[in-house]
This record gives sequence, C-alpha cells and structure tokens, in this order.
Amino acid sequence: MKTVKAGILGIGNVGTGTYRTLQLNRDKIIESTGMDIEVTKILNRHPDRDRGITIDKNIYVQDAYDIINDPEIDIVVELIGGIEPATTFMADAIKNGKHVVTANKAALAEHGKMLQKLATQNGVMLRFEASVGGGIPIINALTSALLSNDFTEILGIVNGTTNYILTKMTEDGADYEAVLKEAQAKGFAEADPTGDVEGNDVANKLSILLSLVFGVEVPPSRIPTQGITAINKTDIAYANKFGCTIKLLAAAKKVDGKVECDVQPTLIPEEHPLASVNNEFNAIFLHGNAVDDIMFYGKGAGPLPTGSAVVGDMIAIAVAIDKQSAFDSKPLLRYDSDLEYMGEGKNQYYVRLSVDDMPGILGNISSTLGRYGIGIESMMQSTHSKNADETVPLVFIFYETNREVLDEAMEELKNRSFVKSVDSVIRVEK
Ligand code: HSE
Repeated sequence: MKTVKAGILGIGNVGTGTYRTLQLNRDKIIESTGMDIEVTKILNRHPDRDRGITIDKNIYVQDAYDIINDPEIDIVVELIGGIEPATTFMADAIKNGKHVVTANKAALAEHGKMLQKLATQNGVMLRFEASVGGGIPIINALTSALLSNDFTEILGIVNGTTNYILTKMTEDGADYEAVLKEAQAKGFAEADPTGDVEGNDVANKLSILLSLVFGVEVPPSRIPTQGITAINKTDIAYANKFGCTIKLLAAAKKVDGKVECDVQPTLIPEEHPLASVNNEFNAIFLHGNAVDDIMFYGKGAGPLPTGSAVVGDMIAIAVAIDKQSAFDSKPLLRYDSDLEYMGEGKNQYYVRLSVDDMPGILGNISSTLGRYGIGIESMMQSTHSKNADETVPLVFIFYETNREVLDEAMEELKNRSFVKSVDSVIRVEK
C-alpha cells in the first residue's frame, strides 16, 4: 500500500471536519483506492484549544513553512481561510511542487487565475471542491460529467449560514441575531460572519462558478451584492402571501453574448425546486443545453460535509500521484471565454412602501411607475394592518425592469408627501 503525506494549514471547523473524515473513513479510503493518506503535520497556533477530536499533539506545528517546505509532504491542505496569508502559503506550496487542496473561496475568487497558472507551470494539482456548496460535488460535476453542456443559467443557494437564518426566521419566526449565533455555534459561519450575512461569501462562490460555467473572470467586487441584513419578518410574511419564500441567491444568466450576475435576497415561488432548500443545505440549479434543468443539493456548510469535499480532493490527488497522471491534468478554473460581463440584468421586484391612508394615492403611484415603464403584476394593500404611525403598507410585485430605473422611480416616490418610506426592494425570480 502506498502512502501519500499531507499537511493541513488550519484546524478550525473545516480542518477538524477534514481530519475527522479521514479518521472515520480511513479503511474505506484504503480499500477503494489502495492509498493511505497520512496527515503528518497540522498548523495549529492554539494547540491547547479543545477541538473536540483526538489528534496527536506531536504533529502540531506553529509555522506554516514547516509544512510548505517539508520535502516529505505531497499535499498541502489550506484551511485557514481569508485572502492572506492563505494565498501566499498556497503559492509558495505550489512553487515547492506540492499539490494544493483548499476550501478558500475568498482567495480563489481573488487570486484563482494566478494560483491556477502557477499550478500548471509547476505541474501540480490545485483542487477546491469545498470552496462552493460545502459537501456538494458541484466542481467535480462541472469539470467532468457536465462538460458536454453549454449553460445559460446558474441559480444557487450557496451560503449555509444565511439559508439557516432565513429558514428559521420563516418557519419559526425566530430573531435574526439569535439564529446567527446558532449558526455560528454549529460551525456554519465564517470566523467573521459579516461576509456571510452581507453576501460577500456568496459573491466569492459565484465568481468561482462563473469561471467554471461560463469561463469568465469576474472578481467578486464587480458582482452587485446585497446580503440578508435588511430582511425582516414583515417581508417574509408578505412573500408568503404572494406564494413565495425569500432566499439569498447567487444568480447568473447568459443573455445575448453577455453574462448578467448578482447576489441578492430573492422571492422565489414555493413550487421552485430551490424554495424547499432549507437550513444549512445548499443547492445549485443550472440550465444546460443538453442536460436541461439540473439541481445539486446537499449540506453547504459544517465541518463534516465540508471535510467530505476536502478529503475527496485529497483522494483524487493521491490516486493521480499513484497513477502519475496528476501532472498533466487540465486546470479546473478557466478564463477562456469572450463573453462580456455585465452586472444585474432585468428582473422582477417586490417593493413595500408605507403610505398615508387616503384616496387617490394608488392611482398617483401607478401613474408614476407607468412613466418609468414599470408595470404592476400584483399588489396588496393591508388597510387593516396599519403601521404604528397610522400609515399603511402597500406591497407590489413589478414586472421586469432594470434596477437603475426602479431606483429612480423609488427616489421620485420617496419625495411625495404621502409616501412615508420605501421599506423594501427585493428581487423576484419566477
Ligand atoms: N460560511 C459558509 C456558509 C461556509 O455558511 O456557507 C461554507 O462555505
């Protein structure tokens, strides 16, 4: 039996999940691949912290370069997260001829092209299955079984923390802050959960998917991004009355030779396959010209599901090392398309206003919207559920329009004396 040696940088949630997966399934891995994967070193800056697993403390190191420069180590597994120093560690490991496995969506979204190029130049593999969708093997599928397709659409729920929060707010009427704490305790959230709730984690993952699916390089900073911090129980309840549920979606469409993409909370009809994706589950829904609609579903966050994806990559590398086929392997990320990138395209929107309760207001609002070419698909006026200040909520679903046009119309409405506030604007996916 051959042994492949690995060093792990970082032993937080994903690191412990990876180590546990290897412990749990070692015999199974040996049996199915004929290879043993031995973790010989782990970067752990807090060796006395209880990680809830048994690890021989002798394999802990304090300096990442004890792993990166170790001639015995074949695979460096980067699980510290964040852009730096993780990117430098990965680049240096690659330059040292190590294969690299990472779960680091932020580093890949920002520096994937450079790391991929470096890996190709150095004849090593760079694998990152855990970076999108946790345990879902979406990257494997997109870079192998689905290569025969030309895709036109991606819709993804790719953040477990925010999906967990939205699910609990919808199903149990739970409070945002309390559920966020629960998600952190379960190991779904990032060390700093701002990136989860503000949508940046989703933008990073969408940036990776855009390379894999459309071959375009779109840095996350160029993806219009909105998180879930403004979502409240009132909008969740109205969405429900419209037969919809609110999810934080990564969306991308190929339209007339251009790629439109954005990240924002979205009302989706209850019958849409993504509507029933709850808690920390993720799903990626794609439309390909051969496979048609296809959806991948699984746990998108949490130590073991993510560990499953990391170990899957380690196994793929171990097997390739054994067959000596790793070194000519095709890069997974690609940036070869001449598709033009643009931000958010035309969408339908849900809008909630608070207005004075008096005659003529609805007519005034709809004629203003008409001047902007915005059509109303549905409307709800709850005069029986007045706001505390005696204004009433007016809730609309508009036909497709550009976001800029909608924002201009809302600016104009905000200045009307009878419009107290524009409370919410949320995209609708039909
Ligand atoms: N914080 C991420 C999430 C972890 O909640 O989905 C998986 O990338």
